[in-house]
Amino acid sequence: MPPGSKTGYPSGHVLYRRLDRRYPRIVRGEGCWLIDDDGKRYLDASSGALVTNLGHGNAEVARAVGEQAARLAYVNGTAFTHDAVEELAAEVAALCAEGLDRTLFMCNGGDAVEAALKISRQFWVESGRPEKRKIVALTPSYHGNTLLALSASARPGYQALFRDWMVEIHTAPAPYPYRCSCRGELEECPACSGAAVEEALLRDGPESVAAFIAEPVGGSSTGASVPRPGYWKRIREICDRHEVHFVADEVLVGAGRTGSWSALEPYGVAPDFQIFGKGIAGGYAPLSALVTSRRILDVLAAGSGAPQHNQTFSQFPVSCAAGLATLRQLKAQGLIARCASMGVVLFQRLAELQGHPHVGDVRGRGLLAGIEFVEDKASRKPFDRSLRMAETLAETAQAAGLVLWPHGAQLGGKGVDLVLIGPPFIITEDEISLLVGRLRTALDTTIERIRGRKRR
Ligand SMILES: Cc1ncc(COP(=O)(O)O)c(C=O)c1O
Repeated sequence: MPPGSKTGYPSGHVLYRRLDRRYPRIVRGEGCWLIDDDGKRYLDASSGALVTNLGHGNAEVARAVGEQAARLAYVNGTAFTHDAVEELAAEVAALCAEGLDRTLFMCNGGDAVEAALKISRQFWVESGRPEKRKIVALTPSYHGNTLLALSASARPGYQALFRDWMVEIHTAPAPYPYRCSCRGELEECPACSGAAVEEALLRDGPESVAAFIAEPVGGSSTGASVPRPGYWKRIREICDRHEVHFVADEVLVGAGRTGSWSALEPYGVAPDFQIFGKGIAGGYAPLSALVTSRRILDVLAAGSGAPQHNQTFSQFPVSCAAGLATLRQLKAQGLIARCASMGVVLFQRLAELQGHPHVGDVRGRGLLAGIEFVEDKASRKPFDRSLRMAETLAETAQAAGLVLWPHGAQLGGKGVDLVLIGPPFIITEDEISLLVGRLRTALDTTIERIRGRKRR
């Protein structure tokens, strides 16, 4: 294929994620930049899918991965343990809240979500409470694409074909102030205060509920909506009162992304299960982590003796080495503190977009920003979903050398057009200025394109 020509289905032999798109071929990464085979440079404002937290080309992590693969590529986690997993688990324990100090490592966020929900169920069965089997989740939310994780996700578009295969999940409205009828202004609003979660538990009978799962700061579904300061304390109390496990899905927002190791940290709350993924190994190898405590595991140890969720690549040495080197780089270079301080710069610069007639809201924390676009600002009227505003913006931006993560959805009869901004923690102030400048230009071009579509 000649350099610069894009490829896509039906060319080649790759089963591409989309069969209706032509893909540029990326040959190299440098810090916050991706470079294609034609030498075109893309500023990666979303760290891929919120993954490359350290940026590309980190020699320490690359070396650790290579050395691990050369020394010991793989062992079966049922039969053996190894240095990389032991050391990584100790590092994770030191970063998590007290008591959250036992970790199972897997490859994808969805794997860890499945493991958390299954181990929660197993705990209740082995505690002599087999009636505790229901799962409560927030809507909207996203927890992964495997069937249990997908069931727990409020993503009707992803679920439609598979409904017959999914399990029933009970739901409560997510704290999403911009789209809430209270507009985030009513103190006792059930969704924004957390009272709606208790209502859901009481409706479903808390004696039959095993676990409540939620993202501590909204990911793609609510576009980085940050719950109120008292929200998670209230949820913790509700879960404790009704003996329901609290599963914190930090796949997108954890591992430093919001300026603290865990997005729950500023709330002073510890869950029963905490899940990390995406950026935990900086994208140098696939890695996710399910962290829990002896309080849970002692019951299994005295019962069946084994958590019922194993996969071939559980505790995979090369991925664990990538995770260990990533955590050591975060520490050595003070990158979580940098994420918090560069986040302040990012939000200062994004504030310039607030006056744009189609920017409804800018929100988030650390280096995670969600921007929600609307047709009409005063009424918060969304664009007609058929215009695919968010997707069009991401395509326009990518063509102009800026990578964004779009999310477009239909929520309770309303369209939602969001993009997530989440650059690597090493981003500079100049790169943030470039990012915001390119975003503004792409936004104006997108609005023009959409107007053109409407006229047709
Ligand atoms: C909050 C959250 N949980 C779970 C997942 C699933 O992770 P994975 O795609 O690695 O399976 C995602 C993916 O975007 C996510 O954002």
